[in-house]
Amino acid sequence: MTQFQQKLHRDLPPTTVWGYNGTYPGPTFEARTNKPIWVQWINQLPTTHFLPIDHTLYGAGLDVPDVRVVTHLHGGHVGPESDGNPMQWYVPGRSRTDYYPNIQPGALLWYHDHAIGITRLNVYAGLAGLYILRSKADFKLNLPCRPYEIPLVFQDRSFLSNGQLNYPSTGVTPYHPVWVPEFFGDTAVVNGKVWPYLEVEPRKYRFRMLNGCNARFLQLSLGSGQPFIQIGAEGGFLPRPAVLNQLLIAPGERADIILDFSNFAGQTFNLTNDAPAPYPGGGGQDLPLIMQFRVTLPLSRPDKSSIPPYLPQPHPMKPPIKTRNLLLTEVVDQNDNPIVILLDEKPFAAPPTEIVKVNTTEIWNFINLTPDTHPIHLHLTQFRVLNRQPFDVNTYKNTGQLVFTGQPIPPESNETGLKDVVKAYPGMVTRIQAPFTDFCGNYVWHCHILEHEDNEMMRPLVIVH
Ligand code: C2O
Ligand code: CU
Ligand code: CU
Repeated sequence: MTQFQQKLHRDLPPTTVWGYNGTYPGPTFEARTNKPIWVQWINQLPTTHFLPIDHTLYGAGLDVPDVRVVTHLHGGHVGPESDGNPMQWYVPGRSRTDYYPNIQPGALLWYHDHAIGITRLNVYAGLAGLYILRSKADFKLNLPCRPYEIPLVFQDRSFLSNGQLNYPSTGVTPYHPVWVPEFFGDTAVVNGKVWPYLEVEPRKYRFRMLNGCNARFLQLSLGSGQPFIQIGAEGGFLPRPAVLNQLLIAPGERADIILDFSNFAGQTFNLTNDAPAPYPGGGGQDLPLIMQFRVTLPLSRPDKSSIPPYLPQPHPMKPPIKTRNLLLTEVVDQNDNPIVILLDEKPFAAPPTEIVKVNTTEIWNFINLTPDTHPIHLHLTQFRVLNRQPFDVNTYKNTGQLVFTGQPIPPESNETGLKDVVKAYPGMVTRIQAPFTDFCGNYVWHCHILEHEDNEMMRPLVIVH
């Protein structure tokens, strides 16, 4: 991990970023299932951060270094010593070596910084990259492969006129002078390029998409009206392809997408985003354009790839042995701006409550009492979304009674595979079933809106014998 300059914006001077091996996003790993790897993560960053730190968050009153990092393999089924727990941070001049066993279905994982209280700034500075885990099944399927398989990391950034990254340095509440409840950039950056275009051939492509934004949800459409054919999510393949006119991806989520440009030679399409104005009343800006596809390349060889009607699936999970109700709440100031956002109504440092017996399966019910959607992420596991059910929030707040106002709603067609992030909508109970296998130790679960995660919306997850 180093600091360097990289040209992100065609019309602006190079931007100071943080990256891995001198690139932002970091290099893409290609790993194989059941072939373990070791990775040494070396912190060679400067000792001062170039983004504004809020010293009222983690470390207030403690002697904590501003520059601290720890890399987490998001979606990885990894032992606790290599997970990249937020408390395992280290300073410039130090390194950590992690062991990734790759014992899980093939999937698009990603790695990113996870240091306590400062993840939003470290990731915004550039500390993120992809990790493609390929299984035998992946090779057997006749899907488009490289160079027709292309990863797309979507992020939003704001730039100063000198080309430098802009992150707000004034908070919205007097409680935190710098912290903002959610960051929304006014510029789309894909694979480290501002508003890029991609020249493609008239054929099928496989795009491995990641929403790597701090806080922004993306609801993507293609100008052609052409559908997205989603074949996989965070944990691997869906049972069958999902055909979507719009693709909603929350921060941390991944979508394995086939786009077919066969009938569009010579045309240009915008990939647009119409996710609703992000933070009602909070000054969030829309980001209508993400990138462009130009079907300008000649077909170099016939497209023999195909989309199978059914995709390989892992073994079913054991039946659950426990159900937990988990509250999502926020504390707001007089202007309704969040001061702190909580899970279980507890800060991260309160003693662990999610203590799980190893090699069991549990049902977790996320009861969202806030007005926002939170993308909830669990380390270690890949889970299934069971359903969502609307309930009366005021009754719950006044009496603690869960009064449902409708029937359970089944997961969307692109939520039917294994996942590691689930959108917990406001006024809904979102139910997942999660297996906790192989490893014992300390992990975390949290909201993947990085500003939330840094301001207490994270809790320990402890796996015990
Ligand atoms: Cu992508 Cu705990 O994080
Ligand atoms: Cu993770
Ligand atoms: Cu959140």
